[in-house]
Amino acid sequence: MRPQLHSRASAFGKVILFGEHSVVYGYPALAAGIADGVVLHAQPTEHGRPLELSIPDWDVDFELRPESEDPLSLALHAIMSHCDGPLTGWRITGQTKIPARAGCGSSAALSVALAKLALGEDAPPAQIVEASMAGERVFHGNPSGLDSEIATRGGMLRYTRSDGVAPLRFAPFTVVVANTNKPRSTAHQVANVRTRKTRFPLVVDPVLQALGQLVTSAERAIVTNDFKSLGELMEVSHELLSGLGVCCEELDRLVALANRSGALGAKLTGAGGGGCIIALPGDGAGPLLKAFETAQVEAFEVRVEA
Ligand code: MEV
Repeated sequence: MRPQLHSRASAFGKVILFGEHSVVYGYPALAAGIADGVVLHAQPTEHGRPLELSIPDWDVDFELRPESEDPLSLALHAIMSHCDGPLTGWRITGQTKIPARAGCGSSAALSVALAKLALGEDAPPAQIVEASMAGERVFHGNPSGLDSEIATRGGMLRYTRSDGVAPLRFAPFTVVVANTNKPRSTAHQVANVRTRKTRFPLVVDPVLQALGQLVTSAERAIVTNDFKSLGELMEVSHELLSGLGVCCEELDRLVALANRSGALGAKLTGAGGGGCIIALPGDGAGPLLKAFETAQVEAFEVRVEA
């Protein structure tokens, strides 16, 4: 029998609250899922026809060709091969709620949703994460695994490379995500941090350590509903990430706009170099969303819950 796909699968997008980049070096990170980040549907086509993938929201529309060097094709091929899934005879279409290449976990959400199409939504999460990592390695080289874990499990997770995921108990809260619309590559940003760390280890290692320590302080602020401290820790996180070289004018401008418009704190989220910021609203998300709308900045709310 020819390899099959399930008819539907979904995966979470994500916001990293704290710990991007330092998580690559073994420190903890906190991330929250965005429900239905990517939803895929699969339908059989004629036997032998190339596998097709179409996600109009991301301008993705292609047929899988063995000779293609395009990262999306290579990732699709790697995930299907890992899962003994089909390489021909299916058409996959997708809808998404998250912007592509903006720090909201688009590649992990796609990789996880593809793995779930092949393995089933009910497959053990560890198996889904492992299969999705075959795709994530194509996109990002040596990803920490954080993005695949949150794209698979959703909720809010504390993650380290050595110990994996641990859930957190806390009262739900909201963050606002705003997009610079400046695309960037995670692999590129991660490589730049590594170069800086190699050149100035005595300077950069303490920054990474401080980013790791921030996660522990942020966890305490979250479980005690101390949002004033949480906002301040976001400010510190943004400044430390700036020291790693992953901030840019566009991100700084959105952080400043958020702070002027009533946020308790704001920081870049994800790999940086462009993409999105997250802001912690002081008095409901309304004033922040209004300020971003007035400035013609794409923004949306994310409910952070266990
Ligand atoms: C990218 O979403 C998060 C980084 O920490 C890279 C990684 O964890 O692999 C920048």
